[in-house]
Amino acid sequence: MNFKSIWVLGSTSEIAISLCIELANNGCNKFHLISRKKSDNEFLVQILKQYKDIEITVEEVDLLDKDNNYKYSVKNYDLYLITAGYLGDSNLASFEEEECTKIINTNFLSLIPFIKNIISHDRLIREGALWVFSSVAADRGRPSNYIYGAAKSGLTVFCEGLALKYINSKFKVRVLKAGFIDTRMSKGKAPPFLTTKPKAIAKYLLKTAHNSGVEYLPGWWRYIMIIVKLLPNKLASKL
Ligand SMILES: NC(=O)c1ccc[n+]([C@@H]2O[C@H](COP(=O)([O-])OP(=O)(O)OC[C@H]3O[C@@H](n4cnc5c(N)ncnc54)[C@H](OP(=O)(O)O)[C@@H]3O)[C@@H](O)[C@H]2O)c1
Repeated sequence: MNFKSIWVLGSTSEIAISLCIELANNGCNKFHLISRKKSDNEFLVQILKQYKDIEITVEEVDLLDKDNNYKYSVKNYDLYLITAGYLGDSNLASFEEEECTKIINTNFLSLIPFIKNIISHDRLIREGALWVFSSVAADRGRPSNYIYGAAKSGLTVFCEGLALKYINSKFKVRVLKAGFIDTRMSKGKAPPFLTTKPKAIAKYLLKTAHNSGVEYLPGWWRYIMIIVKLLPNKLASKL
């Protein structure tokens, strides 16, 4: 699939930045960047401006803002990318409702209205794709991140249902169960040998742009997660 335009929710994510740059290298020339603060897109905007005939629009959305009057400008893009997410403080979230709700809403519930607006009848009949970032944390409830994992699990199942429901449509839904990626989110938490660079992720995603449904990212996380899922409870309780 040759994407000429992209709509990104979570455009300050290092993964989103790498993907936008790769897309620009491949001829994409329309970018709609959505983040909490418009000014936080400046780094990416300056890079994209160096390409010819580029159209860039930016918009502010806070997924936790209940009075959000976002107008859902979701029409007419080839690729929709959702990289918005929040790891949060799992210890705090286990006893404080506010942090727990923040994790569940940012990674799952607040994303649903956007996804529902993207998947319109109009959009389904034309070629395009929705790529949603989930996590391997969705695979098993582990003590260190079961709230984040529960939210990503809800997101994964919701999007997998959409991917299967519209399997014959021209518009494809892709759910990415990512392992560790070298971004501010995983800083200090991930062993380097299990960590992949955002640029490598971006290149891989574009090389496999026709994929749809749920997949591990990178693919070798499938084998790690088979082991994690098979661990007896006594061992899994240490994770
Ligand atoms: N890095 C990893 O190891 C890893 C592993 C598995 C899955 N993932 C998933 O991959 C996606 C991208 O993560 P990343 O590693 O690139 O992390 P990141 O750099 O922290 O990006 C997270 C993005 O979510 C946005 N966001 C957070 N809270 C928000 C809110 N309330 N409203 C609107 N936007 C909000 C951030 O915007 P601000 O700039 O405004 O904070 C940022 O654009 C996430 O969904 C993450 O859960 C990452």
